[in-house]
Amino acid sequence: MPNPSTVQDPQVLLPEQGGNIEERLNEILSSYQGSEDELIPILQRVQQVLGYLPEAAMKRVAKFLHLPESTVFGVGTFYAQFKLVPTGRNTIRVCRGTACHVRGSAKILGEMEKQLGIRAGETTPDLEYSLETIACFGSCALAPVVVTNDKVHGRVTAPKAKEMLNKEAQ
Ligand code: FES
Repeated sequence: MPNPSTVQDPQVLLPEQGGNIEERLNEILSSYQGSEDELIPILQRVQQVLGYLPEAAMKRVAKFLHLPESTVFGVGTFYAQFKLVPTGRNTIRVCRGTACHVRGSAKILGEMEKQLGIRAGETTPDLEYSLETIACFGSCALAPVVVTNDKVHGRVTAPKAKEMLNKEAQ
């Protein structure tokens, strides 16, 4: 197993950077024996290094472990921990739980979607933002709640949501 202390910050590599992905994968795979039970640890490591699981990486892992590609894709899509598309540098989570819904979270989400030009579950093409929804953040007294990266914002209004994005962009 690789030494966790040597893990670098995830760096999102796009499919068009295929050469780099291949190089990074070879480095990663050189730490493993090639046995089937390494599938999940390898996928975790690939995601840690690349920031997500590109299709090319899953194909390469299948070849390395002598497994059908469908098995590797099956594991990659089954576990919520694995991301198949790149995640933005900033993650915006809008709470859609009941308390937040009652206090207008749909409007906040709509404002975020409008400002970012994407829908919930998507990432901006420049990889700056990912927009997600959460069921309940556990801070219902602050509803409606938005979490930008690790920062919790309570009693958010549409104008405040817009302002929040401008601040994150700085
Ligand atoms: S419903 Fe939004 S924090 Fe609980």
